[in-house]
Amino acid sequence: MRARAAVVMAAGKGTRMRSATAKVLHPVAGRPMIHYPVRDALALGAERVVVVLGHQREEVEAYLQAAFAGQPVTIAVQAEQLGTAHAVMCAAPALAGFEGDVFILSGDVPTLPRQVLEALDATAGEAVVGVLGMLLDDPAQYGRLVRDGADELVRICEARDCSATQLAIREVNAGVYRVDAAFLFDTLGRLGRDNAQGEYYLTDLVEAAAKAGRGVTALVLDGAHAEQAHGVNDRVDLARAEARMQARLADELMRAGVTLVDPRRFRVDDGVEVGADTVIEPDVALLGATHIGRGCILEQGVRLSDTQVEEGAVLHAYTVCDRARVGPRTHVGPFARLREGTVLGQGVRVGNFVETKKAALGEGAKAQHLSYLGDCEVGAGANVGAGTITCNYDGVDKHRTVIGAGAFIGSDTQLVAPVTVGEGALVGAGTTVTEDVPAGALAISRAPQKNIEGWVARRRSRPGGQG
Ligand code: UD1
Ligand code: CA
Repeated sequence: MRARAAVVMAAGKGTRMRSATAKVLHPVAGRPMIHYPVRDALALGAERVVVVLGHQREEVEAYLQAAFAGQPVTIAVQAEQLGTAHAVMCAAPALAGFEGDVFILSGDVPTLPRQVLEALDATAGEAVVGVLGMLLDDPAQYGRLVRDGADELVRICEARDCSATQLAIREVNAGVYRVDAAFLFDTLGRLGRDNAQGEYYLTDLVEAAAKAGRGVTALVLDGAHAEQAHGVNDRVDLARAEARMQARLADELMRAGVTLVDPRRFRVDDGVEVGADTVIEPDVALLGATHIGRGCILEQGVRLSDTQVEEGAVLHAYTVCDRARVGPRTHVGPFARLREGTVLGQGVRVGNFVETKKAALGEGAKAQHLSYLGDCEVGAGANVGAGTITCNYDGVDKHRTVIGAGAFIGSDTQLVAPVTVGEGALVGAGTTVTEDVPAGALAISRAPQKNIEGWVARRRSRPGGQG
């Protein structure tokens, strides 16, 4: 195979997004759009990937450095946007000495499948220029693919430079190419900008190659395939790109054995993994680095970010988890909130209106109703009664609560941290625990109950009394 490199054009301003954020940093399936062409170029075996940046380049550069650290991704700066040919010229120094094929991609085309780039390469074969085209009912402002009498591609004509006959052409340029490096950099330096926009047009490569008899090919996508090559210029395009990506990711999960009760009412980020035989009800969102094991059930409205769920776990309706781990066959919710650093072991039960943060619950532990468990450890088999609160914050610092294995915490207990309840200890309902409880002990802090006979009737008979 010939050596490969890539140039990703992303210097444009993206005015139509009407955004303070750089266009290519707007997310699709949870990743900035620029992620996809860069990742695909690397996956194609590009030995160098040069991203051409201009507007808001610091933010984009910071993202790329973090996301592709250690990989051959470099930045080229196009200070002034003089056109697509000029953008690629700006990448030339970073590709000095490279011989082989250069894939030229766009930073704002996030849904193009990598296989299309492989197909573009195969179609281009020995040609010096391979162009990706789309057959559209409405060719809009795209550059038209102009063919000669023998149906050979001879030129790309920008809409603004087209004759009326050319405007009727429905085959257009998607803005994605595979070009021989030597031909590319020889030719780019010689292109003029005598056109309606006064810009250096990358598309002029096609005419140059055709005239030199060096071979030009087009791979033209149609129907739904053409849509995958659509770029993002405004928020309407962004929503369409998101919808295409969601449909693709949902299809992949279903083909891998996941049941999606309603794939259109499901949101998933790129990179999320779900095991076979997991069933996902409508309105579930799986975000970030979330991994779900086999045979789990995610009921309606579950939202998970950066969360690990092991096999056979059941997340009941409207459970929200962030940076949490849920052990095998554990049940959570409905209406539970697991926050960062929650680690639930095997067979744990966390019920409705329970909030956890930096909480480790051992195998078989239970906290079934209305609790706040923060900065704490709950031993295996312990039972945390309804309304239990770990008072972990004294207004200045956070403190830990430790509940031993098999302990029983009665309802409406407050555990004022730092505090430890020993193994097998029992805390009576309504207790405020301020001191450590030894293993096996009973702790109870309620004031003794007092019953006053006839009190209600006497109050009613007083002047101003109710009744
Ligand atoms: C270009 C093509 C057109 C094609 C269309 C597909 C040219 C002359 N025309 O149109 O045939 O149908 O793409 O979307 O190439 N960019 C830079 N620097 C620049 C100019 C553009 O980095 O100086 C980047 C943009 O950020 C964008 C990409 O290149 O990622 C395409 O630019 P855009 O202005 O959207 O495309 P057009 O020139 O309209
Ligand atoms: Ca565009």
